[in-house]
Formats: sequence, structure tokens, C-alpha cells
Amino acid sequence: MEWDREPIVALNARLRVRSANFDEISLIGTTLEVDSEPMDDVDSTNGEDLDSTATSLASAATHYRYEHGRRYHAYKDGKYHLPNDEQEISRLELQHRIWYLTLNGRSHLAPIPESITNALDVGCGTGSWAIDFATMYPSAEVIGTDLSGPIQPTNVPPNCTFLIDDATADWAFPKKFDFIHVRMISIGIKDWPRFFNECFKSLKPGGWVEMQEWSAPFGCDDGSAPLDTPFMRWGSDGKGAAAKAGLDVQAAKKFPIYLEQSGFVDVQETKTKWPLGPWPRGKREKKIGELFLKDMLEALRAASIGLYTRVLGWTEEAVDEWLEEVKKDMLDPKRHTYMPM
Ligand SMILES: C[S@@+](CC[C@H](N)C(=O)[O-])C[C@H]1O[C@@H](n2cnc3c(N)ncnc32)[C@H](O)[C@@H]1O
Repeated sequence: MEWDREPIVALNARLRVRSANFDEISLIGTTLEVDSEPMDDVDSTNGEDLDSTATSLASAATHYRYEHGRRYHAYKDGKYHLPNDEQEISRLELQHRIWYLTLNGRSHLAPIPESITNALDVGCGTGSWAIDFATMYPSAEVIGTDLSGPIQPTNVPPNCTFLIDDATADWAFPKKFDFIHVRMISIGIKDWPRFFNECFKSLKPGGWVEMQEWSAPFGCDDGSAPLDTPFMRWGSDGKGAAAKAGLDVQAAKKFPIYLEQSGFVDVQETKTKWPLGPWPRGKREKKIGELFLKDMLEALRAASIGLYTRVLGWTEEAVDEWLEEVKKDMLDPKRHTYMPM
């Protein structure tokens, strides 16, 4: 499926040098209109028109933890509560596509020059963003870091490298970067001010950091998903479990403040919504909604089982029973919920 290449979303902040040169930003909008015939415009592709080339390495840390039928990262075991197995890799690939649809084919919004020499992708997951970026900017040396490895492909562009690294430890990169990209790692970071200080320290003057994140709770603007319905309750329970684990699922709302406190200037925030399901009007809105529903149906157990058992002390059976109810509610076409992005 083809979308116009208009830019959207994300939070960008520049180090010291002023005068950002953003293109005009066009969102799917923060007001989603309900479509009375939600399935009419749904198309059957996954929006996979943007594939990446692949070519080289990854390493160690394969003494994975296996729990509740899922595989988890080995390095700094227990730090991140979502799995890193094939099932999760497919989900992250789906989410990668949703981001391209959201950004109208772009991988970033920060106005970085073609001649960029290096970039860092923190919490790179499957490595797809880093691989695409390295392909688009062949002059740039691109490093993707993650607690999980080697879940990235072995065939990557020669200017792309993956490292197993914990973003919450001191950053010790030998060179400073022109661009730091961070996407969807809310569940992995507790101390955001420290994180942004590390970003600041690791950027060249004039460099950019771009955060692409979600912020809980799920929203609903037309009263179709009351707070006591299972899916909305799952959201608030999850927020509590994350808070108990020291995680702030609303951290993205504070990013602009944290960035400025770390010394960044030209902080720009752009908001959009990912509808859960193809309920809104508009082809692009519907497609994002359809893919995000698939993503969330998969993420539901992946995001809950670790937190609920490790942090809230639920049994696996109790979690699975509850999630069945939540899932039914998520699939109810009467509900018009969305994730603020
Ligand atoms: C939801 S995935 C997103 C992956 C990728 N950024 C993307 O958008 O496709 C979150 C990733 O952050 C990584 N992560 C979480 N906490 C981390 C940490 N402290 N240091 C490095 N990576 C971390 C996880 O291992 C996981 O691969």
C-alpha cells in the first residue's frame, strides 16, 4: 500500500545549536472520527511496502531465560519484562511497519543532513530501523544497541553494527553521534533524566535526539470504552504493575521537560494517536488501527505475563484467564480506543 510521504510524529531535540528546519508536519490527527462502516476500507496487506536490505553481524548473550513459554534476554537478566523470541520479533516487525505508516514512509523527522557521519539507535530490538537507516545514509556509521542479542539479522549493511548494551548504564561510546534515535523503550528505562543526560553527553554539538514513544493510558473520546471495561482495566492495572517495578508508562509526557533539563534546545513535540482497530474513518487511520490491533493482541500476553507474575505475584493461570476476558473486550467493535503517541 502506498502512502504520501508526509512527515508525522515524534519528539526531537537538538543539542545547543538553534534553528530547526522541520518540514510541515501532517498527522492522521488527534481527533479520530468513528466510521459507521468500519470494515469497508480495510485492505488485506500488512503495509509491508518498505523492506530493508540486509548483510552482517551480531553476538553473544544467548543464555536466555525461558519462562511462561517465552524466551527473555540473557544480558542483565530480568531487566526488561518483554520476551525476545521469534513471536516477539514478528510483533516488533509489525510495529516497525506501523511506524512507517505513521510517519508516511519516513524513519525520522529530525532535520539531519545527508552527510551525517554516525547515528545510534538505543534499544534497537530487531535492528530493522538501524538497518533501514544505514541503507538510507550510507555515509553514516550506524550502531544499534540492545539488551537482547543476537536477535538482529546477521546480514546487515557494512555501515551497521549491533552491540549488546544496557542503556541504563554509563554510556561509553568512543565517538560522539550526530543523531540518536530511541523508539518504544518506555518499559526499559526507569531514570529518564539520567538517560537524557547520557544522550546529551553522547551527541556532537548540533546533533539531534529523536524519541518515538507511546504514553499510557489508552484513550477513548466518545465514552464507548468506560473505565470499568476489561481492556481499560487492564491498562490501569498494567500502569500500577509498571509503577511497582519503578517504570513510568507516562514518561513520554515529561520528555520535553527532561530534555530541556539536560540542556537540549529546539525541543519539539508532535502528537498523534494509534487507533486500536479499524474503527476510525480514513484509509490510513484504518490501516494503522488494523495493524495496531494485531500488534496489541500479540503484545497483550507478552507485556503482561512478566510484569503480572514477577511484580504483582499473579499465577500464570490467573493472568491467562484474565487476558482472555481482556482480549474479548479488545475485539469488541463498539469500543473506540486509541494509544496516544
Ligand atoms: C518494544 S522494543 C522496541 C525495539 C525497537 N526500538 C523498535 O522500535 O522496533 C523495546 C526494546 O528495548 C530494549 N531495551 C529495553 N530496556 C533496555 C535497556 N535498558 N538497554 C537497552 N535496550 C533495552 C528491549 O530489549 C527491546 O528490544
